[in-house]
Amino acid sequence: MWWIVTILFLLNGVCDAGITSSFVRKAAPSIEIPKVHFPPPDGYNAPEQVHITQGDYVGKSVIVSWVTPLEKEPNFVTYWEADEKKNIKRNRVHAKITTYRYYNYSSGYIHHATINRLQYNTKYAYELGSGNGTRQFSFTTPPEIGPDVPYTFGLIGDLGQTLASRETLEHYLSTKKGQTVLFLGDFSYADVHPYHDNEKWDTFGRFIEKSNAYEPWIYIAGNHELDLSPEIGEYVPFKPYKHRYHVPFQASGSRSPLWYSIKRASTHIIVLSSYSAFAIYTPQYTWLKEELTKVNRSETPWLIILMHSPMYNSNNYHFMEGETMRVVFEPWFVKYKVDFVFAGHVHSYERSERVSNIQYNITDGLSTPVKDVSAPVYITVGDGGNIEGIADSFTEHQPDYSAFREASFGHALLEIKNRTHAFYSWHRNQDSMAVSGDSIWFYNRHFYPKEERSSNE
Ligand SMILES: [Fe+2]
Repeated sequence: MWWIVTILFLLNGVCDAGITSSFVRKAAPSIEIPKVHFPPPDGYNAPEQVHITQGDYVGKSVIVSWVTPLEKEPNFVTYWEADEKKNIKRNRVHAKITTYRYYNYSSGYIHHATINRLQYNTKYAYELGSGNGTRQFSFTTPPEIGPDVPYTFGLIGDLGQTLASRETLEHYLSTKKGQTVLFLGDFSYADVHPYHDNEKWDTFGRFIEKSNAYEPWIYIAGNHELDLSPEIGEYVPFKPYKHRYHVPFQASGSRSPLWYSIKRASTHIIVLSSYSAFAIYTPQYTWLKEELTKVNRSETPWLIILMHSPMYNSNNYHFMEGETMRVVFEPWFVKYKVDFVFAGHVHSYERSERVSNIQYNITDGLSTPVKDVSAPVYITVGDGGNIEGIADSFTEHQPDYSAFREASFGHALLEIKNRTHAFYSWHRNQDSMAVSGDSIWFYNRHFYPKEERSSNE
């Protein structure tokens, strides 16, 4: 019998260790797709780069944004319920127009129209443009907020516009499961080109339109949205990003589009900015402190935080960059039993154990994260596949807080089932969607705070 006990002991030891996947990714193309492969749509002054996001706090509003290259008009969106059995009433909402200059680049007319008072769980069609430049799209509003409302999110980060980026987006779209994308920052990578070539912002908008014109993306800003370049007179941080991607920050009492929150289905989603001040007394700190007290787990059981720079990361790329934010915010994340903290930035995939490191105060020597049932799981999905390539250098050895890590491009799905259970899976681009590189049933920290076991164990 002793050998059975020994084997069980060894297996248990293996189960408790984190996993560094041995999957070897094919030499894959981080080659940017040339601009000519993202042509503008046909038609005179045709609306392009069409994208939508949630427009209020509770999911009854949508912001529709688009760019016209030549003329401001028509400056409205026409929308109607897509159910043909009903007597179709067409409505019209006018947009706000913005433009900007960046060094020697001048933007087209950027339109942002907020459609309010939509019905929950309803498909709407919408139309932009006129004449031979008329274009039609559609979206479906989320179900009414409630604790057991199922809903599926896609998770994509650091996307860029390379051959690998296209694989990621097509792979995600092929599932047809995702209802909203949580986009973890780093959009176009225009800033890696001379003078931050802002035409790359245009081509990126055309690239993601096939998804983002039809389902909302929840936007967060990454470092590649900063677009600071004092040597060419560009001193205003986030200038192209703020002109192009509007978010409903005022609805959650925020004073900045860089941090805000929304409620959607059974989730409360909080967006934070890794590249804005977050120390005590700053606007972001003060807002988050207040916002966390508003979370009602009986209404929205799932509490999700999005940020760009991960707080737990065992990759040598961007190692410890999220540490200062961890020191400031981690005690709140544990106190409020946050379910997930999703981040991008590191061009790789990693999932943590439920750990916290809040007992560490520099002088007490307790600098090791410990397992904590009230702590979030930290997941890095910075693996969209951009021009900078894969982050394939993990620290040795794998720290105990790291449950699974792999240097591959891909995306993730979070399928919320009810107030207690959510199925999560990560999908590398090389596989069919039937395969997941990592998957786990997550249990809600408020209603069912049990320990989880992943499929990799
Ligand atoms: Fe980044």
